[in-house]
Amino acid sequence: MSLDTTPILTATDEARRQLEICNACRYCEGYCAVFPATFAERAFSDGDITQLANLCHNCRGCYYACQYTEPHEFALNLPAALAEVRVESWDRFAWPGGLGRLFQTRGVALAGALILGIAALFWAMAALTPERGTGFYAHLSHTIMVAIFGPAFLLPILVIAMGLRGYWRETGGTRVTLSQLASALRDGASLRNLSGGAAHGCNYEKGDRYTLARKHAHQAVFWGFLLCFASTSAGTVLHYGFDLPAPYGAFSLPKLLGVPGGVLLTLGALGLAGLKLRADRSLGAASAWGGEMAFVLLLAATGASGLALFAATGTALVAPLLALHLGTVLTFFLTMPYSKMVHGAYRLAALVRDAQRKGA
Ligand code: HEM
Ligand code: SF4
Ligand code: SF4
Repeated sequence: MSLDTTPILTATDEARRQLEICNACRYCEGYCAVFPATFAERAFSDGDITQLANLCHNCRGCYYACQYTEPHEFALNLPAALAEVRVESWDRFAWPGGLGRLFQTRGVALAGALILGIAALFWAMAALTPERGTGFYAHLSHTIMVAIFGPAFLLPILVIAMGLRGYWRETGGTRVTLSQLASALRDGASLRNLSGGAAHGCNYEKGDRYTLARKHAHQAVFWGFLLCFASTSAGTVLHYGFDLPAPYGAFSLPKLLGVPGGVLLTLGALGLAGLKLRADRSLGAASAWGGEMAFVLLLAATGASGLALFAATGTALVAPLLALHLGTVLTFFLTMPYSKMVHGAYRLAALVRDAQRKGA
């Protein structure tokens, strides 16, 4: 019996093998921030690979430009290699370990969490029905809502902050300046690296043809999410600062921010889901496709259930839709450190770290 002596490569080893080939080739220099950062190194530590992986925006431009993809024996597929390292790194930095891999790779785990989240809200509304109250507060008191959503928001943020600390240590980050932060925020908000050096977009869903669809859909999700967050914050300020509790009128700040935010979030997420169905799975983290799709659909469900609740104002549907929407939001919050949602935090950290490398 002959023993197979082929070494087993980890995702980091495989990415290192490919980046060493890129470092000799240098063809893709102008494509994105990954290549100048790669060419600045002679050898790649594990931390360097983690940083380069989180800097890559998976635009896929370098794959279509590369002369060393299969059937060449080098078998380059840098977008996929870096995507696998990202999945692995987000799991490693999240506490407790293993949950990141579970929610990133198993869409069914996120679906199960959603069922539990919605069930928990139906239970809370049935068991803790307030004696009096108007609007939403006739079904669940403000005190109970704060008791559920305060910790459900703050604890995941703490877990993400701990993960970022691990990231910063591993990638050799130093003290952050305002100009580095500003440069990273600019690049993050404009998704500058999602275009492989081409102003006309990325190669995500149409092979070697360029398209701006993914960038536009992401911008809708990104700004929609921020508007929804701003709407909730405005409601909190009105409640505590001005003694103006919900429900708010159609022309109040929470509604003026929340309704367009919900529309953008829902349409953007559905757009991203459609693009994901058309894109080539082998150029991303194939292991994480199901978890990513479940996350995109969870975002769409969050926006759509919020809009449905708004449309149902004053009808008998408010109670079940409130449980549905709050259960979806609860699931989104609690799984944030373990789902694809963490990409925002790590990608921003990678952009700040890159600004440090460039001496911004
Ligand atoms: C600094 C902020 C952010 C940056 C730099 C960023 C960057 C990116 C990039 C480069 C991608 C495409 C590559 C990939 O799939 O990993 C992506 C995908 C995505 N982002 Fe963001 N993002 C940010 C914040 C957000 C926020 C706040 C949301 C919404 C809550 C969001 C939702 C999504 C979704 C739904 C996808 C698609 C996932 C998929 O197709 O599998 N992102 N983001
Ligand atoms: S992706 Fe291919 S073409 Fe681009 S730098 Fe790497 S080896 Fe060269
Ligand atoms: S951002 Fe695009 S061009 Fe740059 S490494 Fe990633 S897939 Fe390749």
